[in-house]
Amino acid sequence: MNDKVYIFDTTLRDGEQSPGASMNTDEKLVIARQLVNLGVDIIEAGFPISSPGDFESVRRIGAEVGDACITCALSRAVPKDIETAADALKTAKRPRIHTGIGVSESHLRDKLRISPEEALERGVAAVKLARTFVGDVEFYAEDAGRADPEFLYRMIEAVVAAGATVVNIPDTTGYTYPEEFGGLIGGLMDNVAGIENVTVSVHCHNDLGMATANALAGVKAGARQIECTINGLGERAGNTAMEEVVMAIRQRGNLIGGVHTDVNTREILRTSKLVSSITGIRVQPNKAIVGANAFAHSSGIHQDGVLKERTTYEIIDPVEVGAGGSEIVLTARSGRHALRHRLEELGHTMEDDEFEKVYEEFLRVADRKKEIYDEDLEALLGEHERELNEVFHLEALHVMSGEPGIPTATVELVDREGQHLIDSSHGTGPVDALYRAINRIIEVPNDLTEFSVQSVTRGIDALGEVTIRVADDRGRVFTGRGAHTDIIVASAKAYTNALNRMLGAQERTVEEEL
Ligand code: KIV
Ligand code: ZN
Repeated sequence: MNDKVYIFDTTLRDGEQSPGASMNTDEKLVIARQLVNLGVDIIEAGFPISSPGDFESVRRIGAEVGDACITCALSRAVPKDIETAADALKTAKRPRIHTGIGVSESHLRDKLRISPEEALERGVAAVKLARTFVGDVEFYAEDAGRADPEFLYRMIEAVVAAGATVVNIPDTTGYTYPEEFGGLIGGLMDNVAGIENVTVSVHCHNDLGMATANALAGVKAGARQIECTINGLGERAGNTAMEEVVMAIRQRGNLIGGVHTDVNTREILRTSKLVSSITGIRVQPNKAIVGANAFAHSSGIHQDGVLKERTTYEIIDPVEVGAGGSEIVLTARSGRHALRHRLEELGHTMEDDEFEKVYEEFLRVADRKKEIYDEDLEALLGEHERELNEVFHLEALHVMSGEPGIPTATVELVDREGQHLIDSSHGTGPVDALYRAINRIIEVPNDLTEFSVQSVTRGIDALGEVTIRVADDRGRVFTGRGAHTDIIVASAKAYTNALNRMLGAQERTVEEEL
């Protein structure tokens, strides 16, 4: 059996289904380019029938990636979906249509309200139709993890006979245990005629925290494609995290059949940071492989061990996933050369004029802090990128608060036409006063649903990063982030950032509706 495991990245489709993770087409293209650098085999670029934005993303990503990898588009087992997916994939050199239907009793009875026989007919018809457009058709058996295995075997046998090239066995609800899921894949390998002629794929959700274990159990039983997302983004608790399965296979693939992937692991951390910065979804510090603490040693005993021999407490060399080994300490006295060098090490190259702006901001932060860490730089660059897409720019703010006293804030924003808009408000606290003042200028209905402050680096002079979520009047959620040594300023930046994203999405919706 082939020992390569194909990596099917669905960050731009299932990953985007994470609440608050919606991305525009330009952002998706940036991620797609990085996925190519990372060396994934398949990019699921979107669900074209779902929106004009998704259609456009599939079209542009297909054109962009060329033959570097397969471009895949999702569809239900519905003719119009499949035709639209095929249409969007016309630009792709290596197109794949991913179509399918629910197979569990729950999906058949309660969602689709059809009999198993009808689902079987629809599945077969969908594959046949998709094959009239492309040679590469993947069939998904939704909620296979909770399906009757005998029915699943029949369905898979029928779609393989109809021309499917890949069969995807999703644990849609993250319900199974590794032994159980591995058993399901093993059962398919033993009971489905023709299975040896297609690639079996696993698509596991993380509702019980077992997505990685389940995907690996599937590979052990014979699957040769894993569907996963960067940082484990995805519906609800997310999907299998790409970085986890790839590194588990790299470190211990001998335990599951001597398999390997073609992922360039040194691009993992860069990809993780890019996705986090674009989606605004922060990676938990203790996240395996890509968390900020994944290679940090805190206790004296561990530090002693690691200093004597790294492998006493580290099973992965951080360099293997693109984490820097050495640290240059940047201060206000560092020149342009040192800053540019460090930025390039972190994967950020830029033109001179853009660099000058980043350098000025760097000096401003360095004046307030003793040392600038990599995380400070990432926060600072995030700030810079956020400012490039602004509808309103936060120019100045003044806040008064105390006890007793009435917290009051005055803000000055500049719009795209360069108009300076100033307003003030009082509130229950300084941040409330500030947000009310911003609302008086921006005037877009919104509901603040989440607010959190985190220190990006260590020490009393640390950069504080504020992450917030706001919902618009359609219930869409937008994430905003802002970093500054003053958390009130960081709060204002985060709110303006979220409202800018909301305004951008509303402008796109109007354009799409016209
Ligand atoms: O979780 C799932 O079943 C899916 C399918 C659409 C592949 O995402
Ligand atoms: Zn899924």
